[in-house]
Amino acid sequence: MTDTTSSQPAKAWSGRFTEPVSDLVKRYTASVFFDQRMARQDIRGSLAHAKMLARQGIIGAQDLADIERGMTQILGEIERGEFGWNLDDEDVHLNIEKRLTALVGDAGKRLHTGRSRNDQVATDIRLWLRDAIDQILALIGDFQKNLLDVAEANAATPMPGFTHLQVAQPVTFGHHLMAYYEMSRRDAERFADCRKRVNRLPLGSAALAGTSYPIDREFVAQELGFDEVCYNSLDAVSDRDFAIEFCAASALLMTHLSRFSEELILWMSPRVGFIDLADRFCTGSSIMPQKKNPDVPELVRGKTGRVNGSLIALLTLMKGQPLAYNKDNQEDKEPLFDTADTVIDTLRIYADMITGIRVKADAMRDALKQGYATATDLADYLVKNGLPFRDAHEAVALAVRAADVKGCDLPQFSLDELRTAMAHVPGAAERVKDDVFAVLTVEGSLASRKHVGGTAPEQVRAAIARARSARA
Ligand code: ARG
Repeated sequence: MTDTTSSQPAKAWSGRFTEPVSDLVKRYTASVFFDQRMARQDIRGSLAHAKMLARQGIIGAQDLADIERGMTQILGEIERGEFGWNLDDEDVHLNIEKRLTALVGDAGKRLHTGRSRNDQVATDIRLWLRDAIDQILALIGDFQKNLLDVAEANAATPMPGFTHLQVAQPVTFGHHLMAYYEMSRRDAERFADCRKRVNRLPLGSAALAGTSYPIDREFVAQELGFDEVCYNSLDAVSDRDFAIEFCAASALLMTHLSRFSEELILWMSPRVGFIDLADRFCTGSSIMPQKKNPDVPELVRGKTGRVNGSLIALLTLMKGQPLAYNKDNQEDKEPLFDTADTVIDTLRIYADMITGIRVKADAMRDALKQGYATATDLADYLVKNGLPFRDAHEAVALAVRAADVKGCDLPQFSLDELRTAMAHVPGAAERVKDDVFAVLTVEGSLASRKHVGGTAPEQVRAAIARARSARA
């Protein structure tokens, strides 16, 4: 506790204060219980700063050696879980600095020369986030690898493609999965792009205006693997747009996985029955013995809400802040950490879960028999035989209506029945020949969509090969 009468204030900044903060204020303003996650980054940043100070002659060589020795010890204490984190010391920065001073004396007190916690914390977050992004990019890679394997095994497995959740046209399950591959590819691009703006060094901006010491920011940037320095000291200590971008990229990734999850849940419903998920991703019901619930995809869908929430939290945190640093920014960490944790866990679990998808190809094929999935193929056939598309559309609509009445699918009509059904559209019936049945089959429909991006199995395989070679 701060002793107001003491000549040695307990807090790094309490010299000018006449009374201590209450316990509640102390707890309210402290961040150590969540920002201690950045301890390694804080030490890395401090070591680079100290090295620069020594090179520039701002501190002595012995000071640097003492700081390095002390930090090695502190790192060991943190890794062994022995470090005594203390609420009185507010945040990760002051906790480490205080311990350093206890270990090495004056050299510890010299470490903060030419910097402020404002540029220090901005540097720590960027270092932390850079690591998180690298981990996420690797995990997206694992997810993609497994997705490509399942897609390849199902490159020619027909299923109904839906629009409005109504049967639309046949696609292959592999093609459907490759849609998610494309989304994940853009997600990876977004994270990689965001990393470029994360990877700039704020240190050297000090509190807000820079510092009067002859510092070498480029040296520190190089030491810490930053691509460049932040070019405006006010901006560097105050903006968190890089964290917001990260949360936006995360929200999109989670949104994609949430859609995927919604489909897995739907496909696993006995009413649809297209897939089964491995038991290890499902749970049972405490009351209904028959239940096998797709909890993992449901939670992915649910956790998307908290990631979206964090994005909004950070945007809102930023929007009213005048330049430069304000304590509001301390609130950036929990949403950011939570977002990274959620994305990392979700990707890990998803990569594993998709290998446990058991495809029920018969059920997918059966579903294609309901809903006239090849009606567009019939219209295209008439067009290729010279009928204008609008007339062909009308003729097929009549055929579908007749099939509804008869209770059959289009390929089950005889040639005569098909012609009769279309009789009201001039020019339609005589354009229907025996070869029409080839286009009404699911395989015919699939094979005909053989352009880049189409669902023909050969194109799905080409897409998978393209994806594999881009990843290699
Ligand atoms: N714990 C603070 C944060 O997370 C560190 C910076 C504090 N700076 C200050 N001027 N009080 O933002």
